[in-house]
Amino acid sequence: MCGIVGAVTNGAAGAGPADAVVDGLARLEYRGYDSAGIAAVSGGDVVVRKRAGKLRGLLDELERNPLPDARAAIGHTRWATHGGPTDENAHPHLSGDGRLALIHNGIIENFHSLRNELVADGATFASETDTEVVAHLLGRAYGGDLTAAMLEVTKRLEGAFTLLAVHAEHPGTIVAARRNSPLVIGLGDGANYLGSDVAAFVAQTKSALEVDQDQVVTITGDSVAVVDADGRPVENRAFTVEWDAEAAVKGGFDSFMDKEIHDQPQAVADTLRGRTDELGRLQLDELRIDETILRSIDKIIVVACGTAAYAGHVAKYAIEHWCRIPVEVELAHEFRYRDPVVNEKTLVVAISQSGETMDTIMAVRHAREQGSKVLAVVNTHGSTIARESDAVLYTHAGPEVAVASTKAFLAQITATYLLGLYLAQLRGNKYIDEVADYLAELGRIPAKVTEVLERQDHVRDVARSMKDTTSVLFLGRHVGFPVALEGALKLKELAYIHAEGFAAGELKHGPIALIEDGQPVFVVVPTPRRPTLHAKVISNIQEIRARGARTLVIAEDGDTDVEPFADVVFRYPETPTLMTPLVSVVPLQIFACELAKAKGYDVDQPRNLAKSVTVE
Ligand code: G6P
Repeated sequence: MCGIVGAVTNGAAGAGPADAVVDGLARLEYRGYDSAGIAAVSGGDVVVRKRAGKLRGLLDELERNPLPDARAAIGHTRWATHGGPTDENAHPHLSGDGRLALIHNGIIENFHSLRNELVADGATFASETDTEVVAHLLGRAYGGDLTAAMLEVTKRLEGAFTLLAVHAEHPGTIVAARRNSPLVIGLGDGANYLGSDVAAFVAQTKSALEVDQDQVVTITGDSVAVVDADGRPVENRAFTVEWDAEAAVKGGFDSFMDKEIHDQPQAVADTLRGRTDELGRLQLDELRIDETILRSIDKIIVVACGTAAYAGHVAKYAIEHWCRIPVEVELAHEFRYRDPVVNEKTLVVAISQSGETMDTIMAVRHAREQGSKVLAVVNTHGSTIARESDAVLYTHAGPEVAVASTKAFLAQITATYLLGLYLAQLRGNKYIDEVADYLAELGRIPAKVTEVLERQDHVRDVARSMKDTTSVLFLGRHVGFPVALEGALKLKELAYIHAEGFAAGELKHGPIALIEDGQPVFVVVPTPRRPTLHAKVISNIQEIRARGARTLVIAEDGDTDVEPFADVVFRYPETPTLMTPLVSVVPLQIFACELAKAKGYDVDQPRNLAKSVTVE
């Protein structure tokens, strides 16, 4: 929610910071697209351009009204919280004297009292935002030293914030601060960068520095200084950005959504790569949690939101089966408020593509306070969840730009399966050769996903023919249940259609009342090689068909049992039960994407959503 980028150069020749900021904004637009704005320091002034709406509006404005040459620029893409998506509420915001510009991601919870205090003291406001309050406070606190002003003002703020400020008197400096919102530093040659995540500067540099809680950062083209809340210098962890700048462009596809659906074989393969030793044993060196602790845990709780939670839901089936450890899956926002039973024998697994979902961050903190070890399954290096957890298992899906998650889902299932197999190996639940067999099956998944993608025309044709549908139901059993939930979520997010997923066994306890003539129902059918499970789902299809449902069935190749009861069949290649979510979800992703496009919607930036929900 809200993307932040800053660039500053030492003035030597090369791309201007405004260009780097615009490039960063394009890569961060997934974080919010209610407005976009940029401020640059030039000729002793702060110059601002900002526009409500998507980044395109700001780019048009910059063409009409280019920014002057500058050494420092900051840019913002907004997901509105305080104040509607208007030009006035777009960031950057200015201090009372117009000499300082500020951008912000997060929510200043005490902004009302601060605003009243400023109004009583004669301040006038140009926007309804909480951010503008901070711009005024900084302007008033400024006495020649922008870093000192930032340190002073952040002490008065409550809530979550990443702040970037430039001042007319410091043409080559950006000062930033963070609390409970993301910020990373990019280290360039004669230039330095700041961003909400590494995507912001991936086209400029691969060299990055983490920023911890309550730190204040001052960058120039040649220097980076980080201090704690008391102004004491600190040393932060450096890391190398593994993402490729090219991976975050559409590369010939209509949308990032299409591209990322097609990236999935690679995402699974990359997440599996390099995780076995020469004897075929699974090695998760990055786990960094003592093996004796991993042997002693008696419960796993997965915390996550959205699609990541459904990946956790899938993982529960596999981890319990392989490791005989109870696994609970909890929406991160519910976890913290229900006084969960967690202790040093609980392993909490936090799954997050961005590593910045606020609810998941808060769940991680809560779990650690209770003495649990937290293992993060995260896609974004340098992110808050990765930094604050005891260990990180990175998914290697590459940058995911489309707001609705696809390739991260497959990578998250893959990574949690690796975790399950690793624990099974470590705790002696599975022999090495059994683990190797499962790994070999996982290794075959990329080719199977490719096969499903090759059959996408059929899915697309059906999706287009259903563009006037107003309600779709999804049924699944066992690992097919979270797949049904994810299929429904994709359709809601992308096509704004009422869609609900149910456990097929629950059908007769209520959902069957929804079935009427022509009601489309997707059914995720397990492999016929699990006859009991399979037969149950076939019965469910018959039950809804008898009541007039239009059945769209996802079934394994060669499963002829479904044919008499299916109006449409989408096929996936033969796959062992626990691995099926990795292939059976793909037609559902394509269906949602195509139907949304047929309705004329922007599949990369669905209405009201943001990719990283960085406020509670
Ligand atoms: C938002 C996105 C979803 C995503 C969820 C969790 O709701 O729209 O696509 O699954 O956040 O995000 P995370 O980054 O924690 O995986």
